[in-house]
Formats: sequence, structure tokens, C-alpha cells
Amino acid sequence: MAAEIIDGKAFAAKVRGQVADHVARLKSEHGLTPGLAVVLVGEDPASQVYVRNKGVQTQEAGMASFEHKLDAATSEADILALVDKLNADPEVHGILVQLPLPAHVDSTKVINRISPEKDVDGFHILNVGLLGTGQKSMVPCTPLGCLMMLRDHLGSLSGLEAVVVGRSNIVGKPMAQLLLGDSCTVTIAHSRTKDLGEVCRRADILVAAVGRAEMIPGDWVKPGATVIDVGINRIPHPEKEGKTKLVGDVEFDSAAKVAGAITPVPGGVGPMTIACLLANTLTACCRANGLPEPEGLTA
Ligand code: GUN
Repeated sequence: MAAEIIDGKAFAAKVRGQVADHVARLKSEHGLTPGLAVVLVGEDPASQVYVRNKGVQTQEAGMASFEHKLDAATSEADILALVDKLNADPEVHGILVQLPLPAHVDSTKVINRISPEKDVDGFHILNVGLLGTGQKSMVPCTPLGCLMMLRDHLGSLSGLEAVVVGRSNIVGKPMAQLLLGDSCTVTIAHSRTKDLGEVCRRADILVAAVGRAEMIPGDWVKPGATVIDVGINRIPHPEKEGKTKLVGDVEFDSAAKVAGAITPVPGGVGPMTIACLLANTLTACCRANGLPEPEGLTA
């Protein structure tokens, strides 16, 4: 039987709609408008596209969007000074510094300068520690989106065998922590794992976040498993010369024949990242004002 295709585009639209409803209520009942500040340093084309999309979707959700575009040569001290200013600004509830930063800037230092309560990326060392110890934190957007899709599809994740392929700080490690928080039995595997196919075949939940095009074939997938493909890899188009194609870390066609459900690339995890950024900004605004957190939009 063919796998159910998990429609991340539709799910992300639903999440954005829920965020927009909460935002409207915050405005009418409390006179509050959640605000997201995005800092972009330099002119990396992919980052420019991300930042534009973030700005548009933030406004569509009824939130305030503050964009700070800085020249690539901006000093680290000036970036830190901007972060300090945003930390102190009561209209800003979330701060995102777009990565990568230029080579002369210490990204870790900049990220750790953001107030942990406004760190909607969940990259600040305090949030990493809070997540790792099961305490309330800001959770990185992509793994949060994966968790929401898994809960939506499977209901309870308790007791399930989860394998995360990839050990990045942005996806693999926080994903594993979130799955552990939902009582999965979690394995973090990676490109050097011995017998990776055997390890993957154990998984009721297989999260691929390794960054290698179509590395995971269908015969590594347990029949009926739920497969979440975080990979976004551009490869030469197999049929159209001179064109490229986006593929995930999973070989979609063969995996879809075996899995119970699978996210496509594009249109799977990708759209969930910005939706969760909006959700985190809303959560940060609620926490800052002592209001209850939006249900279903947090870990
Ligand atoms: N660059 C690519 N993805 C991201 C992200 O999720 N957050 C930030 N800050 N930078 C990125």
C-alpha cells in the first residue's frame, strides 16, 4: 500500500491561521501586537528570500515585522549593539538573526547576546539547556514543526521507536530531545553510524536531517513507518538538462511504497519552519505578558 503523503503546505497554512486567530484576540482583548525583528547581515541570496518570506508571513498573521538589513562589512560590535537595542524594545517579542553571518562575526556570541525569552530560533545556550533538561524553553522552529506533524498524524508518540538521522544543533539534536520529551525511544544516527540501514529499519518514526540527497532508500524504511524528511538538496534534474531539482534526504519514490506516511520535498517540512517561527513569536509575547500560552502551538 502506498504511503499517505503528509501535506506540510496545508498544515503550515492551518498553523498560521491558528496563530493569526490568537494574534487577533491578543489585540482585541489586551491591546497587544506580537512583534518579530529579523536581522540580516550581507546579501546571501537564499537568506534574502527567507527574510522576505518571513516578513510577508509575519504581517499576514497580524504581527509587527521589523527588518534590519545591515551591510556585509558591519562590525560584530555594531551587530551586538543592535541586538541590545532589540532586547530592550518592548514592541519586539522575538528576535531572529539570520544565519550564516559573515566570517568576521562570531555567530555564537551574537546568538547568546539575544535575550533567551526573545530567542524565537531556540539557539541560545540557555534554551538549549532548558530543552535538554525538559524545562520550558524556546524550541527551534524546524524540529517543532516536525513534532507538530508527527503528533497530528500519530496522536500519542509514547513508546515508539524513533531514529533521527543527523546530529546538527539546529535540527538533529533538538529533534531527539523533543521526541524523548514525548516518550519515544530515541536513537541519534548520522553519516558515520555503522549499519545505518539496520538502525533506520527499527524506526516507527524516521526523521532524516543529514543533508545528503536521497541518502535513505526505501529498503531502510520499516513497513508502515512515519517518515519526516527535513532535507532540502538541489541536484541536477534527471530529465531536464541544465535544470535542477529539489530532493530530500530520503529516496521518495521507493520510501513511499513502504512507509505508512511520508513528507514530500518540497511541500513537507519546509513550510512548517516559518509557521513555527510565528508560533514561537506568539508564545514569547504571551509569556512576556503573563498570559497563557497558545494551545497546540508549543512543545
Ligand atoms: N538560516 C537558515 N535557516 C535558519 C533558521 O532557521 N534560523 C536562522 N536564524 N537562520 C537560518
